[in-house]
Amino acid sequence: MKKGKVDALLGIVFGDEGKGKVVDVFTPEYDVVARFAGGPNAGHTIIFEGQKFVLRSIPSGIFAKDKVNIIGNGCVTAPDLFMAEAKELEAAGYDLKERLHISKRAHLILPTHRVLDRAYEAAKGKAKVGTTGKGIGPTYSDKAARIGLRVGDILDRFEEKYAALKARHEQILKDLHYTDYDITDEEKLWLEGVEYLRGFHLTDTEIEINRYLKEGKNVLAEGAQGTMLDIDHGTYPFVSSSNTTSGGVCTGLGVGPTDIREVFGIFKAYSTRVGSGPFPVELFDETGDTLREVGHEYGAVTGRNRRCGWVDLVALKYAIMVDGVTKLIMMKSDVLDSFETIKACVAYKMDEEEIDYFPFDINETVEPVYVDLPGWQTDMTKMQSEDEFPEEFNAYLSFLEEQLGVPIKIVSLGPDREQTIERYTEE
Ligand code: IMP
Repeated sequence: MKKGKVDALLGIVFGDEGKGKVVDVFTPEYDVVARFAGGPNAGHTIIFEGQKFVLRSIPSGIFAKDKVNIIGNGCVTAPDLFMAEAKELEAAGYDLKERLHISKRAHLILPTHRVLDRAYEAAKGKAKVGTTGKGIGPTYSDKAARIGLRVGDILDRFEEKYAALKARHEQILKDLHYTDYDITDEEKLWLEGVEYLRGFHLTDTEIEINRYLKEGKNVLAEGAQGTMLDIDHGTYPFVSSSNTTSGGVCTGLGVGPTDIREVFGIFKAYSTRVGSGPFPVELFDETGDTLREVGHEYGAVTGRNRRCGWVDLVALKYAIMVDGVTKLIMMKSDVLDSFETIKACVAYKMDEEEIDYFPFDINETVEPVYVDLPGWQTDMTKMQSEDEFPEEFNAYLSFLEEQLGVPIKIVSLGPDREQTIERYTEE
């Protein structure tokens, strides 16, 4: 039997590219959908049949009732938030217990990890990362320090292990003089969440996933956050704490690089970023406000305003390189429907020098160099095929493809599943 393959679907800029919707559209093609990195810092919004769901830890394949969904070893899980998310789906009629498999090796986010997240941010003053406050950094730090608790730990002498790590965190907080916190209610819910989690299929997902591949089944690896938030390749230190890039698919699921077939890179027709850190294309003017309003650019997890700007081809080229992207998917093209002129950043000017690569340290002198392109000024939201695309939109796509060197296979024209158009470009 022919071995199955893993396709990766990654947000390749600063996250919030709309992965949730695409995974949902892609799901019929796969047998398994797996998350390989991150945790409840993600917020994948999916809208269909008039209902809106925001998934945080659970893979977006959960809505297709015949698929297996996996939370891989590279992920971090907060039992209380997981319980809330899962119960909401159960209430909407989705049965999770059989179809959601969770790696015993995924790390647990403790309530004190969230307090540590706040404490570290507070101590950073002006250099705040602007985290989602979900305890992601401290949990991955404990993983690297080899003191973390994993999902499998809840099956054996858990209370003892939990008390020891909590005490360790409390000592750190004391040393930081960060003592004004109370986790009593949160901890009660969290422990309920641990109990609830015990009712799930907690397993060696790396073995399971490789068995599926051997049986000829295909896996969709669902990314979270974005390439520029990768702990190694992103805009460090203003990044998340996991490998959000295609390399993270291998380590976060336990599959080999030769099992990966396609790497789909998702980006928006413009740019956004939540939290602090370099964002050369950020617009502080009316155009930025328009992009935010029309694109509803407010954080799915924190509700914060997203910073907005034109598409950044320097960042995109870099992401395509480090991820090995084979096909691109452009989201939210309709947000640009009303603009007379559209800009694309093709280089940065920094310290009087023009550069077309993503540098180690972007400083305040950085300025984007733009190319102007004519807008299409047409409502594209109801278009059914690429034959209806306005000439200027096709020109925008061609310009991006030429610059990026990778075909744009899918464009999204709105939040609904239906508003997704596959292009019949040559392979
Ligand atoms: P953390 O992952 O909560 O530690 O946050 C680190 C940085 O990544 C912050 O700038 C967050 O705003 C950003 N971030 C984390 N998760 C997401 C996401 O799913 N979408 C967009 N930004 C994110």
